[in-house]
Amino acid sequence: MKILFLNGPNLNLLGQRETDVYGRVTLAEIEAKVRQRAKKLGAEIDFRQSNLEGQLVGWIQEAKSKFDMIVLNAAAYTHTSIALRDAIAAVAIPTIEIHLSNIHAREDFRQKSVIAPVCCGQISGFGLNSYILAVEASLNVIASKKQD
Ligand code: DQA
Repeated sequence: MKILFLNGPNLNLLGQRETDVYGRVTLAEIEAKVRQRAKKLGAEIDFRQSNLEGQLVGWIQEAKSKFDMIVLNAAAYTHTSIALRDAIAAVAIPTIEIHLSNIHAREDFRQKSVIAPVCCGQISGFGLNSYILAVEASLNVIASKKQD
């Protein structure tokens, strides 16, 4: 069971960026917690961040037949990137959309996700825990696929 975690623009600044919204946890701390939980559950993790849309598209394309699941915090690209949406649809790897904040309780422009329709679900609003819940949800998605 291999899960690819992808993080979009400005998430490298977690810990110092808009701490009233995103808290003080850094991306490195999130990665450590994700690895800890994944190890307990027997999943292998790759954890990456890029500020570039094309890089994220490239990683999604390369994930084909290498990963069982993708967990994507596309950050601001969530609301704009048809390229990311098309990449997810193209590789057909089950993808979970995640956010630290509850995007539905924020500005109007954040309430629309263009990637949600090609994802198997969305986890939004639980801070660092959105990432941990995504590890658990990934295992669930794979387990229910095996039962089909
Ligand atoms: C975010 C929400 C996005 O609207 C925003 O652009 C981000 C972070 C979140 O994790 O809450 O950069 O994806």
